[in-house]
Amino acid sequence: MTSGSTAAINIHDLCFSWSKGKTVLESCSLEVPKGEFWMLLGTNGSGKSTLLRLLAGLLKPDSGEIQIAPPIGFVFQNPDHQLVMPTVGADVAFGLVQEGLSIPQVRQRVEESLAAVNLLALQRRPIYALSGGQKQRVAIAGAVARHCEVLLLDEPTALLDPDSQLDLVAQVQKLVKSRGLTALWVTHRLDELDYCDGAFLLEKGQVVDQGDPQRLRQRLMQSEESLD
Ligand SMILES: Nc1ncnc2c1ncn2[C@@H]1O[C@H](COP(=O)(O)OP(=O)(O)O)[C@@H](O)[C@H]1O
Ligand SMILES: [Mg+2]
Repeated sequence: MTSGSTAAINIHDLCFSWSKGKTVLESCSLEVPKGEFWMLLGTNGSGKSTLLRLLAGLLKPDSGEIQIAPPIGFVFQNPDHQLVMPTVGADVAFGLVQEGLSIPQVRQRVEESLAAVNLLALQRRPIYALSGGQKQRVAIAGAVARHCEVLLLDEPTALLDPDSQLDLVAQVQKLVKSRGLTALWVTHRLDELDYCDGAFLLEKGQVVDQGDPQRLRQRLMQSEESLD
């Protein structure tokens, strides 16, 4: 395991319950090294989304420590719950205006981040005219434009067809390498494991296995532990 100083995400002994007697995370610990792309696997209801929400600060833990390098970008399963502006460029610019950047600075950030996800040509396109995969890339561009250090993605391919699915995961892999970002990607689709540096398996509120994605893939393919 890496040392805490090189981790972009470090959680230690994290506990969380939605209500008394309904524990979701119990002394859960994990580290994601800076500049790496890791995936989080686990059966439905194992607490993956809850963990991501805790990491993003959207929920408060009952106990335990969370260290995460800000700013954090979050990509949800359904981009229609995330994209708020009428066009691609306006959506990516949205948070930047509130950060107090000048108009030329905003323009430069928008162009740079749309180019990073191969969407520069669609800058003026209405959001409703995009495919699901393109919408997810707009959400990712929004995080890149805010110069996020960490990207948290909660089943971002769940609503995509297989081609767009693999296109998106390859895109995130490329972004992590080219910009030194750290990404934690929740999925239950084992073919996505080809693209990451490492993976965690969450079970009953704890990380029960972690490391080489291909080893985890073999384990899950051979065992009865279906993720669906
Ligand atoms: N808002 C909520 N209120 C109460 N219980 C919740 C809420 N969200 C999730 N849960 C419960 O927490 C557990 C973990 O859910 P979740 O984190 O969504 O799992 P996963 O993303 O791995 O499918 C489940 O038992 C789920 O029913
Ligand atoms: Mg979930």
